[in-house]
Amino acid sequence: MYFSDLSWSIRGTLGRKFLALAQQYDDVVDFTLGDPDIPTPEGICEAARRCIGEHRTRYTASAGIMQLREAIAAYESAKSGIKAEATNVAVTIGATEAIHLAFRMLLNPGDEVIIIGPTWAQCPNNVLLCGAKPVIADRFTERFLPDLDYLRTLINDRTKLIVVNSPNNPTGTVYPYEILRQIASLADEKGLHVFSDEVYSTLVYDKPFHSISEFYPSAENLVVFNSFSKAFCMTGWRVGYVVGPSHFIKRLVKMQENVAVCVSSISQWAAIEAIRGASAYTEPIREQFRARRTTLLDSLEDSPLIKYTVPDATFYLFVDISATGLDSRSFCSALLENEHVAITPGLSFGDAFDGYIRLAFTLEDDVIREGVRRIQHFLTTLNA
Ligand SMILES: Cc1ncc(COP(=O)(O)O)c(C=O)c1O
Repeated sequence: MYFSDLSWSIRGTLGRKFLALAQQYDDVVDFTLGDPDIPTPEGICEAARRCIGEHRTRYTASAGIMQLREAIAAYESAKSGIKAEATNVAVTIGATEAIHLAFRMLLNPGDEVIIIGPTWAQCPNNVLLCGAKPVIADRFTERFLPDLDYLRTLINDRTKLIVVNSPNNPTGTVYPYEILRQIASLADEKGLHVFSDEVYSTLVYDKPFHSISEFYPSAENLVVFNSFSKAFCMTGWRVGYVVGPSHFIKRLVKMQENVAVCVSSISQWAAIEAIRGASAYTEPIREQFRARRTTLLDSLEDSPLIKYTVPDATFYLFVDISATGLDSRSFCSALLENEHVAITPGLSFGDAFDGYIRLAFTLEDDVIREGVRRIQHFLTTLNA
């Protein structure tokens, strides 16, 4: 069998690789994937059952069911600076498909995309799928806030857009208003589009969430991505969306028509229930993850071999392991082999992050404590 040149440019993600390796142990503590263990709220499941019972199980419009697009437009208009209507929204198979289609809409081979790092691996991979080049901005001032002088130096004639992901996976950093203002102003000065990935915007604990859309009154160069996956614990339902100028959405929907036709009707009806009752569903979920964060941080004892900052948001802890002298893959392999704990190597989030690991605290308290106990034991063996 012959493979296309493009197919060679895509690597599988390291998180999934370690998850697969972990399957050989029956007592593994799995901190790898950003996949909430909390069940989808009952009201949302009930809406899906009703949809099946009433046989609303046929294709929908490629852009999504109109009631869902309207509800998303109202939700996004209330959350951020966008004045969205249904024509500004397309429903997609998670934010992942939205990001894929949006890159396809704007990129030609040879174009460059600046992604403010560290980044979720699928983002640069989807740039590569367009034959374009991802450039990860990996210098920071403090707490993984981007160094904007450095960001400026990465812009050249081939640069098409900047990708912002706040709250950030894997660091849990929330960008303050002023940083977002400066990124928007730089993009504006250089005539660049901005993609804002806001899939963790409801899982914010200590800092207010701001969307970069607050600086785009006309939203002509801005595209926002969001998802039901993390906010409503609906990763397996595969519903996300993209919000952008209506002429952009119209074209993107033509692509959607050919790639997927539409998102599952059942998932869309469940999403309508979710977004209409949004805060009643998202707030208890956020509080559960806040409690999990406390469990994780309380269990971790100080060690000279690890450093981290408390995540403001998300369900991730990004830990600096450079003092161990191990690169992130060696650290994760040895931890899995010796202690049966699976975590994601920092290398997955960009070449500059090989001195880090990411733990997803999407586990019950007792499991988190047991995982941390094993990690601490592993660290003592490195010390010896
Ligand atoms: C930053 C970020 N964006 C987008 C996604 C995509 O989520 P989904 O496709 O489930 O909506 C993820 C998933 O982990 C993510 O971490």
